[in-house]
Amino acid sequence: MLKASGESFAKIILIGEHAVVYGQPAIALPVKSIKLTATLIPRADQQQLIASTFYHGPLAAAKTSNFAGIAHLLRALLTFFGAQQQGFDLMIVSDLPPERGMGSSAATATAVVRAMYQAFAVPLPHATLLRWTAISEKLLHGNPSGLDAATTSAQRPQWFVKHQAPHAIAFPSNGTLVIADTGVAGQTKQAVAAVAARLNADANRYQPKITAIGQAVRQAAIALADDQLCALGQQLNVAQTQLAALGVSTPALDHLIQAAQAAGALGAKLTGSGLGGCMIALAKDHAAAQAIAQALTEAGASAVWQYDFAQSEDHS
Ligand code: MEV
Repeated sequence: MLKASGESFAKIILIGEHAVVYGQPAIALPVKSIKLTATLIPRADQQQLIASTFYHGPLAAAKTSNFAGIAHLLRALLTFFGAQQQGFDLMIVSDLPPERGMGSSAATATAVVRAMYQAFAVPLPHATLLRWTAISEKLLHGNPSGLDAATTSAQRPQWFVKHQAPHAIAFPSNGTLVIADTGVAGQTKQAVAAVAARLNADANRYQPKITAIGQAVRQAAIALADDQLCALGQQLNVAQTQLAALGVSTPALDHLIQAAQAAGALGAKLTGSGLGGCMIALAKDHAAAQAIAQALTEAGASAVWQYDFAQSEDHS
């Protein structure tokens, strides 16, 4: 084993969460200013030690719910490389707020797989990376679409359909997303299960909401291609209405969404699984984004970030 490190980014789902689990498309973007790094350092003894905000201690004892999925992934990787007895220190340093719909678990898995392949000097095709990250995501989230892992490992915004190779989608050079945290942990597994339960119990009522989100994603893609920020904002609002009808919005998310709209957002919605976590608001330019960010802070957001669409073309 060599000393190695892997990197990944926060992800923001622009539109399409939940419906993507049922085969509809989604659009998501990596936020490269919010990073996660996993560093592996070989040890001469056989100790396998983890240092992260979720878990601190030996891999063998990593049975805590937050780290169990990554621990399982790590054991599978060590078996794959025939290195079950290899000693190492694994340090995970993350700017991502955990459980806020920013893809913290997928970003951790992505960086760990990258570090491990680099440590054994084996090239890592993207499709192989996504197969590995699915292992921990499945354990943590039950029925993941793969969108989070595809986006946290990407360099540019992604058009994603489950079971298909993701591909980059161009964004306009103007427009800013304001991202705000409710300060309440999101619950991906519970939210995905709640939508599944509703669909199971009353498909006639809930399936049209999934279809409507898919339709809003396709319209959003057209708006992005045509540089039509107002039209894009309307589709974000359509998606939010459907997500609320699916039962995954919360009063805290609704409160921030209303505050953003009152401050001039072109559209606003929750992002990620909902039931807590973050929301996004679309601003026509940087000045409008500042006003919305301030309104969100005043409305009680625990953290606010901005993402200029112009950043999406940055390949660095
Ligand atoms: C969670 O970030 C996104 C969901 O659509 C679940 C998934 O795609 O696996 C809610």
